[in-house]
Amino acid sequence: MHYPPEPFRIKVTEPIRLIPREEREAALKAAGYNLFALKAEDIFIDLLTDSGTGAMSHDQWAALMRGDESYAGARSFHRLKAAVEDIFGFKYFVPTHQGRAAENILAACLVKPGMYVPSNMHFDTTDANVRARRGRPVNLVIDEAADPANPHPFKGNLDIAKLKAFIAQHGRENIPFGMITVTNNAGGGQPVSMENLKAVADAYHEAGIPFFIDAARYAENCYFIQQREPGYRHRSVKDIAREMFALADGMCMSAKKDAIVNIGGLLCVNDETLFQNIKNELILREGFPTYGGLAGRDLDAMAVGLYEGLDETYLAYRIAQTAYLAQRLNDAGIPTIQPAGGHGVYVNAGAVLPHIPQHEFPAQALAVELYREGGIRGVEIGSVMFAHPDPDTGQMVYPKLELLRLAIPRRTYTQSHFDYVVETLANIKSRAAEVRGYKFTYAPELLRHFTARFEPL
Ligand code: F0G
Repeated sequence: MHYPPEPFRIKVTEPIRLIPREEREAALKAAGYNLFALKAEDIFIDLLTDSGTGAMSHDQWAALMRGDESYAGARSFHRLKAAVEDIFGFKYFVPTHQGRAAENILAACLVKPGMYVPSNMHFDTTDANVRARRGRPVNLVIDEAADPANPHPFKGNLDIAKLKAFIAQHGRENIPFGMITVTNNAGGGQPVSMENLKAVADAYHEAGIPFFIDAARYAENCYFIQQREPGYRHRSVKDIAREMFALADGMCMSAKKDAIVNIGGLLCVNDETLFQNIKNELILREGFPTYGGLAGRDLDAMAVGLYEGLDETYLAYRIAQTAYLAQRLNDAGIPTIQPAGGHGVYVNAGAVLPHIPQHEFPAQALAVELYREGGIRGVEIGSVMFAHPDPDTGQMVYPKLELLRLAIPRRTYTQSHFDYVVETLANIKSRAAEVRGYKFTYAPELLRHFTARFEPL
C-alpha cells in the first residue's frame, strides 16, 4: 500500500512523548477509564478526533493577523461571507462557534416535542440536540452500512424506500426538517453519492419537508463522489460541492473538520423567515450575526481553510493516508469497516473482542487497551456513545456495531506515527482474550461518553 508524500513540509513542531507504562496505568485509573478525562500531555498519538485538531497552514496563520475584531460588520466577516457564498451558494448564513451551536439553533427554531428528524445517521451532537428539544432523531441509513465487510462505495447513503415509508407513516407535520450527514461519521466516515442526495432531496421536497445537510466533512464526501461515482471524474471537487448544496434548503457545518480550523461553524439557509429566527436565537446564545461566537481572526482562518479543504492534491493525500492505515491494520488481521472512510479508520472492536458483550462495552475496552499499550487515544463509537432507552418502552436499544474510531487530524501525523499505531494494535490482538469489559460508575443522560466514568470488570 502506497503512502503518499505529504504535500507540505513542517515549519512548526509540537513535542509529544510516550510516558512510562505505570504512569499510563495511573492516568487511566484517575480518568475513570474515560479517555476524554486524560491530560493531553499524557498522550503520545491522539486520534480522539479530527475535529479542530488539524494543523493550520502558513496562509491561515497569516490570515489570523488580518482579523478585524469589530463587533459588527467586520472585514473578516465579509471575507468569510464571500467564501461561504462562493462554495455553498445558500442565500443566508451565520457563523457559529462550532457545529453543535448551529444544530442547537436549528433545533430551537424548528423541533417541537414528539417531532421526528430523519437522517442517514445523526452524529451524537445532532442526535442530542434533537433529543434536547424532546424530538426524536431517526437513522435510516442503507442496510449495507451495518455490515462492516460490505465494500459498497457509498455506504453513507440513506435508504430511500425506508425514508418514503417513514414520511408516509409519520406525516409531514411531524417532521420539521430532514437531514443527511456527509460523510457519515457515526457509520464509518462513509460517503453519500450524488444520486442518493438527489433522491433524498426529492423525497423530502415531495412531502414539503425542508432538507438540511450536516456538512462537517463535505469536501471529503465530494472527493469520494469524484473518485467513485460515474460521471464525476472530470468535475472539480468544488463544482461537485456546488451541485450538492444546490439540492438542499440549508446546512449545519462544523468548520473544525473540512475547513481545517481549530474552532468555528456555519449555519446556512435559503428561507428568509427562518433566517430571522436564527439570527434572534444566535444573538441570544452566540453573539452578533457577523461574528457568531467567534473572534474576527477565527472567521479569517475559516475563510482561507474552506478553500484549502477543497484542494484536490491535499484531498488525494488525505484519503490515501486513511486507506493506508486501514490496509495495514487489515494486513495485521485487525478488521476495520470496509472500505476505509474519509477522516478515520473504524476498527471493528466487536470482532476483535468477541467475548465482551455489548453491555460491557467492547469498543470502550479496546480504546482503553490502546492507550494502556501504546499511549494512543482513539474514541469509542459504540454502546457508550449510542445505546439509548427507547422513549416508548424504556428498553435499552444497542447500536448495530461496536467501533473504535481512529480519527486522523488533518496535516498532523506522518507515516511513522501510523506504523506505530498498527504495531500497537497488533500487540493487543495477540492477547485479545485477556481483555475485559467495563461497567459505568457514573453516566449522564445525554452525550454520556464525554463525562461517564467506568470500572473494569
Ligand atoms: N456533525 C458531525 C458529522 C460531526 O462529526 C460533529 C462533530 C458535529 C456535527 C458537531 O460539531 O464538534 O463542531 O460541535 N464531531 C466531532 C468528532 C466531535 O469527533 O467526530 P462540533
